[in-house]
Amino acid sequence: MNAPDLSSLAAPTTTRNMRVRTIRYEAQNVLSFELVDPDGEALPTFEAGAHVDVHVFGQVRSYSLAGDPKDSHRWWLGVLKETQGTGGSKAMHEQVRVGAILKVGAVRNNFSLDRQAQHTILLAGGIGITPLKAMAHALARSGSSFELHYCARSPLHAAFLEELKAIVPVESLHLHFDHGDPAQGLDISGLLKQSNQNTHAYFCGPAGFMAACKQATSHWPADHVHSEHFKAPEPEKLHTESDGSFEVHLARSGETIRVEPNQTIVRAIELTGRRVPTSCLSGLCGSCKVTYLDGEVDHRDYILSDEEKNHCLTVCVSRAKSKSLSLDL
Ligand code: FES
Repeated sequence: MNAPDLSSLAAPTTTRNMRVRTIRYEAQNVLSFELVDPDGEALPTFEAGAHVDVHVFGQVRSYSLAGDPKDSHRWWLGVLKETQGTGGSKAMHEQVRVGAILKVGAVRNNFSLDRQAQHTILLAGGIGITPLKAMAHALARSGSSFELHYCARSPLHAAFLEELKAIVPVESLHLHFDHGDPAQGLDISGLLKQSNQNTHAYFCGPAGFMAACKQATSHWPADHVHSEHFKAPEPEKLHTESDGSFEVHLARSGETIRVEPNQTIVRAIELTGRRVPTSCLSGLCGSCKVTYLDGEVDHRDYILSDEEKNHCLTVCVSRAKSKSLSLDL
């Protein structure tokens, strides 16, 4: 019997063909890619903070849309070549050429701007500038009060610098170059010391930067602090009771499967011949988000809100605290 494909039950999987119109050197190890519709059709507009999955030589990687959200004729990606990565960014840098057609997934957004804020603080570390650049476009366009703090090793490591200078009012753009000495960098805790009922903060960057921003905003109202990881932090807990095996009940098919200690739920489902859409496999993108109906979840992702965690989990990283979970699959 052919196993049913569960992909349509878990997340949208539609892709569109997009042509690489321009590849531009932006900074050391950073290229930007301009993607357009091959037939010149308009693209859907997107909300600042959104990302897309890009299929590149058998791999799927999530990249933030870095351009102007109102520009319906091109999407811009910024891609850092990660020498320690699993090859997705390397393929983008070394194999994708101008004129190539890439399959690109639907736009998703786990990092939306709250437009009720009276003031917005954007903090970018390195390639974390990509979603925040789109936010800068949106906030500047609407004349909103905001400030952008962009931290990089040096101007040569700071992508999109000239464009940012053109978009962001000069008094709102704060560049912080530490030249390899963190003591010369931005005083994140000092900047975020005062929380304000009318101010929201957004941050994206490498693990140390994220940890510093998280720590500095720990006294802020939780719904005023927004972040997006582009790389999973080192796991805080390596061994817990939920690292053991547990059962997963697939409510729609009625089947029950076992997830072994060294397996993810995604992998256990795949071994039955079914497929759940995935991208980052690190709890960062939301591709594998599934509704659960019963059981207690050990959430290990970096994107779901507290409210979403009451009914959803990411099956690429999360596990069960209870003996079994029932999923809406
Ligand atoms: S595949 Fe990205 S969160 Fe699970």
